[in-house]
Amino acid sequence: MNITIIGTGYIGLVQGVIMSDLGFNVKCIDNDEEKIETLKLGQSPIYEPGLEKTLKNSLKSGKIKFTSDYNFGIKNADVIFLAVGTPPLANGSSNLNYITAASKNLSQFLSKDSLIITKSTVPMGTNKKIKKIILDELKKRNMDNLNVSVISNPEFLREGKAVYDFLNPDRIVVGIDENDDKEKIKKEIYKIYDYFYKKEIPIIFTNLETAELAKYSSNAFLSVKISFINEMAMLSEKIGANIEDVSKIMGFDHRIGNEFLNAGLGFGGSCFPKDTLAILNIGKNNDCEMSIVNSAVKFNNDLKDILIKKIKNKLGDVNGKTISVLGLSFKPETDDIRESPAIKIVKKLINLGAKVRVYCPQGMEKTKKELKNYSNFIKYCENEYECAENSDCLILTTEWKQFGNMDLVKIKNIMKNNYFFDFRNMFSENKNIRNYFHYYPIGRN
Ligand SMILES: NC(=O)c1ccc[n+]([C@@H]2O[C@H](COP(=O)([O-])OP(=O)(O)OC[C@H]3O[C@@H](n4cnc5c(N)ncnc54)[C@H](O)[C@@H]3O)[C@@H](O)[C@H]2O)c1
Repeated sequence: MNITIIGTGYIGLVQGVIMSDLGFNVKCIDNDEEKIETLKLGQSPIYEPGLEKTLKNSLKSGKIKFTSDYNFGIKNADVIFLAVGTPPLANGSSNLNYITAASKNLSQFLSKDSLIITKSTVPMGTNKKIKKIILDELKKRNMDNLNVSVISNPEFLREGKAVYDFLNPDRIVVGIDENDDKEKIKKEIYKIYDYFYKKEIPIIFTNLETAELAKYSSNAFLSVKISFINEMAMLSEKIGANIEDVSKIMGFDHRIGNEFLNAGLGFGGSCFPKDTLAILNIGKNNDCEMSIVNSAVKFNNDLKDILIKKIKNKLGDVNGKTISVLGLSFKPETDDIRESPAIKIVKKLINLGAKVRVYCPQGMEKTKKELKNYSNFIKYCENEYECAENSDCLILTTEWKQFGNMDLVKIKNIMKNNYFFDFRNMFSENKNIRNYFHYYPIGRN
C-alpha cells in the first residue's frame, strides 16, 4: 500500500518512519525544503529516541521518500495522512491555515477516489470543512466526480516516547462522516492498521465530531490532572505535608491511577497548552463555560510566578545573581521546547535581572533560536558542571536522567552559593542533598 503523509514534524515523521518500517511504501511531503534535505540524508531534524536509526534503515530499503513536491508526493497514493501543525492563534483558537493550505495543495494532484486521514488535532467540524475545501478545489478542475472521504484519526503519542507509543497505542480512534461509506472505510482502516489489529489494540469507530472531541477531552483531562496535583503541592508546602506521598496514596486508588500525578512546574509542550486553549475557545463559541479547564490553564500559568516568588523568598533579590537552569525541553528525551515551563522560568529570571546559565541535553539549539533576543543574558553551557560554575542557585527544570546521576559534591563545590530548587523532585529522596545545599523540592520539605 502506498501511503503519503503531509507534514513531516513530530507526528508525521514518526508515523512515516514507522509505517515504512512496517512495510508500507511511504512518501512524506513537507514544504520546509531544508527539513526535507536533512531527512534525505538520513538525519532526523527532531530528537526522538530510536527514530533516526529506523529512518536510515527505511531510506536504505527505499521504503520511505521525502519531498516538497506535491505532484510527486500525491501520485499513486492509496491513502493520504494530514499531519501538519495546528498552532494556537492569539485568541487561543487553532490556526487552521496550514491544514487548509495542505488540503488545497493535495487537491491539485488527486486523480482517483481517495481516503484522506487527519492526524492533526483539529476543532470539531474541521474534517467536514477539509472535505468541502477538497471538493471545491476538485470542482475547479472538473473532477468533482471523484469520491473523497475525510476521516479523523487523532494521534495520542507522547513526545520522548513517540516511537514506542506509536507502536503501542492504548486505542486507535477513527471518526467517519455519516454520509460516507462506513464499511468500505473500515476495511481500509483494518488494512492500514493490520499490525495493531493483530495486536488486539482496540480500534474505535465513531462519528467525526466524537473523534475530534475525544482528542481534546483527553488532553484537557490530563492537563487538569497536572494542575490539580500541582495545586495540592502548593498547599502541601504550606501545611507541612509531603506531596509525593499524597500522589502515591492517591495513585494506588485504581479509580484515580498513578500517572500524571507528579508535582512539578506545570504542563507545557506543543499539545496541552494549545489544546486546552482551543477547547476553551470552542466552548466559548458554543456557549459552554468550560470552567474546569479554564481553572487548570489559569493555575498552570500562575504556577510559574508562584515558583519565582518561592525562589525570591529563599534566595533574596535575584537581580545580579547568577542562576543555573538545568533542562530546557518541556520534558526529557525530546528537543521540543514549545511552551516549555523551563523557558518561561528563564525569561522571568532574566526580566528580574538575573544572569542565567543553561544546559539541556537536547534543547539547546532550539532555545538559542527561540531566545535570540535574550542572548546577552544567557550563557549556554556544555554540561551540568559548566552550568553550575560560580552560580548562586541551581534550578532543575526538566528531569533528564543524566541530571539524576550528576555528582552533587562536585556541583556544590563549583557553585558560589548553594541554593538548589528541584522543581522535578529528582533528589527529594537523596539522603545527603540537604547537607550539601539549601534544598527546595516541590510540595514537601
Ligand atoms: N507533537 C505531539 O506530541 C503531538 C501529539 C498528538 C497530536 N499532535 C498534533 O499533530 C499535529 C502536528 O503536530 P507536530 O508536533 O508534528 O507539528 P510540527 O510543527 O512538528 O510539524 C508540522 C509540519 O508540517 C509542515 N507543514 C506545514 N504546512 C504544510 C503544508 N501546507 N504542506 C506540507 N507541510 C506543511 C511543517 O513544515 C512541519 O514540518 C498537530 O495538530 C498537533 O496538535 C501532536
